[in-house]
Amino acid sequence: MKETIYITRKLPSSTVKKLEENFNVIMWEQEEEAVPRQVLLERVSDAHGLLCMLTETIDEEVMDAAPNLKVISNMAVGYNNVDVETASKKGIIVTNTPGVLTETTADLTFALMMATARRLVEASDYLRKGKWETWSPLQLTGMDIHGATLGIVGFGRIGQAVAKRAAGFGMNILYYNRSRKPSAEGETGARFAELNEVLKESDFISILLPYSEKVHHLISAKELALMKKTAILINTARGGIVDESALYIALKNETIWAAGLDVFEKEPMDLSHPLLTLPNVVTLPHIGSASIATRMKMAELAVDNLHNVLVGSGDVKRVN
Ligand code: DGY
Repeated sequence: MKETIYITRKLPSSTVKKLEENFNVIMWEQEEEAVPRQVLLERVSDAHGLLCMLTETIDEEVMDAAPNLKVISNMAVGYNNVDVETASKKGIIVTNTPGVLTETTADLTFALMMATARRLVEASDYLRKGKWETWSPLQLTGMDIHGATLGIVGFGRIGQAVAKRAAGFGMNILYYNRSRKPSAEGETGARFAELNEVLKESDFISILLPYSEKVHHLISAKELALMKKTAILINTARGGIVDESALYIALKNETIWAAGLDVFEKEPMDLSHPLLTLPNVVTLPHIGSASIATRMKMAELAVDNLHNVLVGSGDVKRVN
């Protein structure tokens, strides 16, 4: 009998075809709506493979409900939605999609930096709302990117790709990372510094760390207080790294200048979220990797990972 695979979101049929040849594939047929928890718990009961998104929390309850599960293939590079420790204890392989989204996420990070610094969203709304009555010297003035200091917190693949873009814009680059990255330093002119120095010296602070409990609220009131009054905070990693209440206070009191956020502590964020009341915040709905080509590559890699674990051959991007 064919093994069963459950896919938690509608993926293009061209991507899933490879799985359908060898497995019994069941897919949540919605593209814009996440699978309800109860449906997930029922569907995994006879699954040998699970292909999931970052919108699903794959914890002990899900794994207990899936006695046959051999592999959890997460269609994201970040995998903080999966309890990897429990998976390892149960002998379940967890995979992710590194590499394929690096450049696209770096593009978005840079775009968000520029949009925030030059107030692009506010300026566009200004025009559309009929407020553009004349040109004036200080109208909608923002911050320069060229010549500014960018502090990158988390200097992995995406951090280094952002540094390359920043070097092209003539920025000075500082980075903080668990370990130093000498080869990337040479390529981009980035200089290692301790976190506090990065926070104090940078005009832009770009958060690009993977999320774990250890970095929960790494950027909180104390860290925000170290930043320049003119600093811009960009988060394209995971919402939980930044304490949003502390960030709201810093932005409201203008102890930092602005923030560009693609990720939030709770996603989707509530429309009543205080951050949405502030003019100096650019908010995006977690679209870091959202180019057509990259999302297709992520889906293909997630499919390959799942397929290869179950057939027992080929490359697999394992996280445990
Ligand atoms: C990831 O892959 O972790 C991204 O956040 C998805 O865009």
